[in-house]
Amino acid sequence: MSDSDYFSIVESTHDVQNPISPAKLREVAEHLEIGAGDRVLDVGAGRGWWAAELAAMGAEVVGLENNEEFVRAARDRAAASGLTDRVRHVHGPALEFEPEPGGYAVATCLGASFALGGFRASMEWMVAALVEHGRFAIGDVHSVDGSSTEELPSLIELVHVAEEFDVEVTGLVSASLDDWDRYESGQWKNAHTWARRNPEHPDRERVLGDSRRFRNDYLTRERGSLGWSVLIGERR
Ligand SMILES: C[S@@+](CC[C@H](N)C(=O)[O-])C[C@H]1O[C@@H](n2cnc3c(N)ncnc32)[C@H](O)[C@@H]1O
Repeated sequence: MSDSDYFSIVESTHDVQNPISPAKLREVAEHLEIGAGDRVLDVGAGRGWWAAELAAMGAEVVGLENNEEFVRAARDRAAASGLTDRVRHVHGPALEFEPEPGGYAVATCLGASFALGGFRASMEWMVAALVEHGRFAIGDVHSVDGSSTEELPSLIELVHVAEEFDVEVTGLVSASLDDWDRYESGQWKNAHTWARRNPEHPDRERVLGDSRRFRNDYLTRERGSLGWSVLIGERR
């Protein structure tokens, strides 16, 4: 079973596949001042909740997503909301997509910077796709105590890296502990429900084992020490 298949199971009911709430992502959209006709590029679009939300505000959104099942769900969501003329979901690795340089009013990447080679590479890639004064939103993990390690940058470090690319960071929306608990709990429950419904599946024990291991890592090391925030800003 691939990572992609595992996440198709454990995030099968998540609208937002990150430790942040839909209400907080609407704050991000407000800060971005999404307007009618804005061309938006969303990297790692997942099951398409964010793309549909921005399209409902009048934007024309291209979502890039590697997981075929998520792409199908995202296209179904756009169709069910009557938004197919304003949302296009492209299946494949984000790096295979060649955005028109300076072609987008807004670029977003929520929890998928690894798809573009990490936070720094994502900023470079997104800023290159933006029009002058275009806006961006990038959501990623960071330490909560201000320290930075090799694995985990601090929030200010992320801001400094972002600002290497001729942008100004003007906004921050952060996940709370409740947001984290809701996101993680949704995964544990989905793994458990799937295992109950698929008693003979060859990957049943692996899915349950991985889910318990992730749950225990979260409870032992990550809960309270792992932050997740969206940095919002504008190209100078
Ligand atoms: C943490 S999820 C976030 C999904 C969505 N942005 C959201 O906030 O709900 C990361 C997403 O990136 C996708 N992804 C992973 N590698 C990718 C790649 N190379 N190209 C495009 N998408 C990728 C995953 O399948 C997953 O849907």
